[in-house]
Amino acid sequence: MQQSVKVVALCGSLRKASLNRRLIAVAQATAPAGMAIDIAEIRDLPLYDEDIEKAGLPAPVERLRGQIAGADALLFACPEYNFSISGALKNAIDWASRPPSTPLTGKPYAIMGAGGRLGAARAQYHLRQICGAFDMKPVFKPEVFVINAPAQFDAAGALTDETARGLIRDLVANLHAWTLRLRVAQP
Ligand SMILES: Cc1cc2nc3c(=O)[nH]c(=O)nc-3n(C[C@H](O)[C@H](O)[C@H](O)COP(=O)(O)O)c2cc1C
Repeated sequence: MQQSVKVVALCGSLRKASLNRRLIAVAQATAPAGMAIDIAEIRDLPLYDEDIEKAGLPAPVERLRGQIAGADALLFACPEYNFSISGALKNAIDWASRPPSTPLTGKPYAIMGAGGRLGAARAQYHLRQICGAFDMKPVFKPEVFVINAPAQFDAAGALTDETARGLIRDLVANLHAWTLRLRVAQP
């Protein structure tokens, strides 16, 4: 029997028709038995401001931090904005990063992205660099760069690129296995 792994997915795009969010739907549909993937909403987070933090964490921040703390692993769907990650995703990470108990610390994670000619590759590498700040544990392969993204989805919003679907399936399978390996190493 597969051991259970709880994953929280963060989508860096806020728009309803986000293609990156659709990648999360593919991950949910192709995840191995025992793996549950829930989406953490980041739309309602205020912009990080230390004055707000000192006055008491807003409810959306508390909720996000709790979701991350309760997850075994994170899955990022990472759009590319001007050669880097979106401000919305960076803002979510900044809120989640705050001490004393940074829920991101040591968390296993995987990244996928849909974008233009490079499939959000530049943003994904920036995100890996950011995750290093919290000693997070990356799954490196397979890389999921959905290039020329709007052409890879049908009118109903389904990802029609079978290669990309297979890569996402393999990525979440690897995240599942990687999370279990780390659980054994750090009981
Ligand atoms: C502010 C902004 C900057 C963007 N910069 C890039 C970029 O540097 N590279 C790229 O491939 N696409 C870029 N795009 C296009 C996005 O990758 C594309 O809109 C993508 O579909 C966004 O993800 P989403 O569908 O999940 O919202 C940019 C879009 C916006 C709104």
